[in-house]
Amino acid sequence: MVPDNKDANIYGSRLLRCQRLMSQREIDILFLAPGPNMYYLSGFLEEPSERLLALIVPQSGDPLFIVPELYEQQVRTFSWVDKLICWKDSQDPNAVLSSTMGQVAAKRPTIAVDSRMWSRFLLMLLTLAPDSRYLDAGLVMNPLRIKKTPEEIALMSRSAEIADAVFTETAKECKEGMTERQLSAKLVNELRRLGADSVGYEPVASSGPNAALPHYRSGDRKLQRGDLVVMDYGCLYRGYNSDITRTVAVGGCDNERKKAYSVVRSAQEKAYEAALEGVEAQSVDKTAREIIEAAGYGQFFVHRTGHGIGLEIHEEPYIVAGNSMRLDEGMAFSVEPGIYVPGHYGVRIEDIVVIQAGRARRLNNCTRELITI
Ligand code: CO
Ligand code: CO
Repeated sequence: MVPDNKDANIYGSRLLRCQRLMSQREIDILFLAPGPNMYYLSGFLEEPSERLLALIVPQSGDPLFIVPELYEQQVRTFSWVDKLICWKDSQDPNAVLSSTMGQVAAKRPTIAVDSRMWSRFLLMLLTLAPDSRYLDAGLVMNPLRIKKTPEEIALMSRSAEIADAVFTETAKECKEGMTERQLSAKLVNELRRLGADSVGYEPVASSGPNAALPHYRSGDRKLQRGDLVVMDYGCLYRGYNSDITRTVAVGGCDNERKKAYSVVRSAQEKAYEAALEGVEAQSVDKTAREIIEAAGYGQFFVHRTGHGIGLEIHEEPYIVAGNSMRLDEGMAFSVEPGIYVPGHYGVRIEDIVVIQAGRARRLNNCTRELITI
């Protein structure tokens, strides 16, 4: 994975804000697994695996890594953290963890654990320190990560631009007779070709009745005249996700499908306009839902209107009924209403937006017109 820079200022201020929150919440130790939280605080990005690799952040003082030997050079290159405890494959990770915790922790520390950590490592911790209090590291990390800085927004904009360009290119080449699988492969290839570090998630390339399954991926069905085709995909750029959905028609479509499309389009537009600084996240969902309900499709809008996005594809704030969190400067999230008529068709339009200067600004700008391929 392409690293972020090792700018000590960025990471130094993140660590300070993190430790301040830890102290407010009376958390002694953050125990972070490979993934977005580790990346956010250290600059080192890796997937979780069976080898114990952890970033331990005490409430005060320097963070330290527990690192399998084969990662030592990578961590030294890409992370600004210079306290490393390296262990060899031939060693017992339990013993490494036990001696490390002995050095950093008070007697019965409150430990906040990464929700992305494999349970085997949590079980090790629980065995080592059964009397500790355990919390979710999200208590500290989510509030830190929810508001994006201008630097982070610039990376997310680049990620979104790649996704936009991929749609424009793919729409030119996608045609009747090709399979969903071929369409999906095209999306993946274009993402890579146009500068993505990696594909964010397995793309949705669903046609006809398959498009009524919001998280269907792709299969061998051929695109047929009259189909609506949903493409939902994204990429990672310097650790930051993009996420976009566009729906196209194959050789034109009937009035029923056109009508559903125009309802989703207007719900998406109005929800975008409703996403103002200071309003509750749920009110954006309500705006989209009311338009879809008023058009008679309420029962076919089977998911929330959106999700926060950043280092994770789904993170806070969730744009969903019941979430009274107020939208604030720097929050980034999707606006993605849809209509899914089982056995027939599906429509979804999704953009990522970020709250700036009091209102939402779209990071995705490729066409939202119903285009015919
Ligand atoms: Co999506
Ligand atoms: Co999404």
